[in-house]
Amino acid sequence: MQSAWIGDALAAALTRDGKEGLSRQLTRWLRQWIGEGKLAADTRLPASRDLARQLGIGRNTVIDAYEQLLAEGYLDTRHGSGTFVCALFKRHTVAAPEQRTTLGLSDRGQTLEALTRRDDDYHGAFVPCIPEIRAFPHRQWQQLLARHQRQARLLDFNYQAGGGLPALRQALADYLQMSRAVRCHPDQILITQGTQHSLALCALLLADPGDVAWMEEPGYLGARVALHMAGLQTVAAPVDEHGLDPEKIADPRPPKLIYATPSYQYPLGVTMPLARRLTLIDHARQANAWIIEDDYDSEFRYSSQPLPALQGLSEDARVIYLGTLSKVMYPGLRTGYIVVPETLVDAFRAANTRLNPEGHYPLQSALAEFIENGQFARHIRRMRDLYQERQHCLRAVVADSVASEWAWSSGHAGMHVLATLPPHLDETRLSQMAALEGIWLATLGKHFQAPPDRQGLVIGYAGVTEQDIRRGVGVMDRLARAHL
Ligand SMILES: Cc1ncc(COP(=O)(O)O)c(C=O)c1O
Repeated sequence: MQSAWIGDALAAALTRDGKEGLSRQLTRWLRQWIGEGKLAADTRLPASRDLARQLGIGRNTVIDAYEQLLAEGYLDTRHGSGTFVCALFKRHTVAAPEQRTTLGLSDRGQTLEALTRRDDDYHGAFVPCIPEIRAFPHRQWQQLLARHQRQARLLDFNYQAGGGLPALRQALADYLQMSRAVRCHPDQILITQGTQHSLALCALLLADPGDVAWMEEPGYLGARVALHMAGLQTVAAPVDEHGLDPEKIADPRPPKLIYATPSYQYPLGVTMPLARRLTLIDHARQANAWIIEDDYDSEFRYSSQPLPALQGLSEDARVIYLGTLSKVMYPGLRTGYIVVPETLVDAFRAANTRLNPEGHYPLQSALAEFIENGQFARHIRRMRDLYQERQHCLRAVVADSVASEWAWSSGHAGMHVLATLPPHLDETRLSQMAALEGIWLATLGKHFQAPPDRQGLVIGYAGVTEQDIRRGVGVMDRLARAHL
């Protein structure tokens, strides 16, 4: 196995400002990539002569680096056939695609595995949609949790079936009515383990295998996965500057489900205006379909008040509202909620109790107090200010880089912005190269079901410090200038 990208990656990574010798840099990069498993065991490195020619450096410089890594045990030579990554590093390697089919996975399992493979190291510049977890009031939260754990009743440790602790459902209903104009009674709320869980439940309970679901194009991969895994056929619903456009859907089959992020479309970052919201509600009514409104980060709005949720726009709107605490608190909390119409409450509760037996009532009790005593709203306000500052910082740093020539989304809300790339840049290549330097650039392309009609990067900034923003933009700038 030989990795064709090594030469290109080194060409982009090497700096020639004289601060660090070229041989040392080569050694450092190769050591890092081997250690991280990006260069897998048994990968053949380019011949020293070829690499030297490609990099425009002396052959001895490459030989020195290879010899150093041979001495350190990172590389191995095989007489007559070249220099290889040492098998000692096998533990870092991932099964090759052809091996995966032998793992005993079903077709669905393999699709799921291919769709969802992702790095464990999911943080830092510029991972989308990760909040600043360092700024969460951990100490107060721990105290609150400990108190609620101590005070819990014996029955709180049993299986639960009430759709969530009544106090938490009440606190969320009050919050949603006030801040999102959601029409709901606490009984209509079902506490889940986050939006992914909510989506899976909606797909199973509201549609049958083979039914059609309109899916925003481009859209949130997590939603596409949930719909596919329930056997639905996703039809691409084009998104323009006003969000999902129901009038532009080519497929004539009526949908059973319509997935939408009207507050801040993921990943394009546009907000659906009122007229489009009403049109969408009308389409759902005519098709007897349910709109799944994923309101994942509407709390972070920088230029105006959030628009009321779709769910609250009309008494009989066919909308299931999904919310999550992953963004406003922290993702590891694994808590979200579904607001369902009264007619569906019993079915949702019963199915959920069977599929994902409920629990964590002491934690839910702490959450209810966190919301009611105002700490929740205070934390959201602080984070809104912080994320706005970080977005300003990102824009200021970008202004001094080649990325200032790209088209950037308005960033009037949310935790990410979209940078649309000029045609001469390759988003996948840019993303792969940046990953080698620890910078996460999510490609726009992976959010499309059909072949993408444009290229871009989804840049998360909420959980990224100013220092990391500077480093990340620096890497992006250098790689883009190298015309990857
Ligand atoms: C569009 C969208 N919806 C929902 C979520 C949150 O999902 P969960 O509540 O499962 O953490 C995310 C997270 O990245 C998202 O981007």
